[in-house]
Amino acid sequence: MEEKRSPYLKHITVCTHEREAGKSCCAHRDGEKILEKLKAYVQEHGLKGKARVNRSGCMDLCEQGANVMVAPDHRWYSGVTVESAEQIIEEHLKPLVPGTGGSGAAAPGTIKAFLFDLGNVLVRFDHMAAARKITQGTGAAPEKLFEMFFESPLVVEHDTGRISTRQFYEEVSRQIGMRLPYERFLEVWNDIFVVDEAMNRLVERLLQEFPCYLISNTNRPHFEYLRTLCPVLERLNGWILSYEVGHLKPNPVIYHRALEIARLKPSEIFYVDDRDDLIQAAHSMGFQTHRFGGFEGLAADLAARGLPNGQ
Ligand code: FES
Repeated sequence: MEEKRSPYLKHITVCTHEREAGKSCCAHRDGEKILEKLKAYVQEHGLKGKARVNRSGCMDLCEQGANVMVAPDHRWYSGVTVESAEQIIEEHLKPLVPGTGGSGAAAPGTIKAFLFDLGNVLVRFDHMAAARKITQGTGAAPEKLFEMFFESPLVVEHDTGRISTRQFYEEVSRQIGMRLPYERFLEVWNDIFVVDEAMNRLVERLLQEFPCYLISNTNRPHFEYLRTLCPVLERLNGWILSYEVGHLKPNPVIYHRALEIARLKPSEIFYVDDRDDLIQAAHSMGFQTHRFGGFEGLAADLAARGLPNGQ
């Protein structure tokens, strides 16, 4: 047996089973049409590779058909019709479409606070640049170090605060044969960020009317460095940082910490992040969300919701 990570963010199964004449079944309650409707949405919105829709056999709830299950959201819909399948699309598939931002978790006008991701939202970064500098003259492949910077077990340990930065440095040195002194390593390793000025202005504008918080998978040296580079961080109402919480997004623990700090319900918070899987996780908890693809898209989404957009 071989185990692989599933590429799908959503896996929807629709019962289309047909039972003998006279018995209730999903086949006689438009199971096929519902299946086709969901598949058509995936196809038409370019979601192949993100979402998969399959037919299934009997789910043993034949009297309540048509039945649809959505993983990994632990949702089971019964009595689904072709019309009500729209709700499944709205809740589980639409948030995966780039630019839609997963709106629909709550009505516009209920937003009481904003929650921003840091990397590739408030600041852009280039890990490959650091990997090249760090491996310069060592004979080590920058690609190997680059891989370590993206959720390798070592980075997870560091970003959840389970190992110190010194231990992280020593392990990186050992694994790739790096010979940089610790202080120089920190300098190079931090020198990968560029502030997104438009986004920082937007946050400043939002702060005039709303509390704004930061939620980030990060580590202490990066964050301390970014506080000096990105002054708006000091003006935020709170920071939810993986290395302090001990968990990375999309672990629900870190989102719950944000709710505790903000003292709000998920539906009252507008969350902005650039990663689909993180948006998905927060959306299924009830946050209002925007999948960040650039300032323009976010500004348009905010304007459509009647919120200040910095323009
Ligand atoms: S036929 Fe669909 S649940 Fe039995």
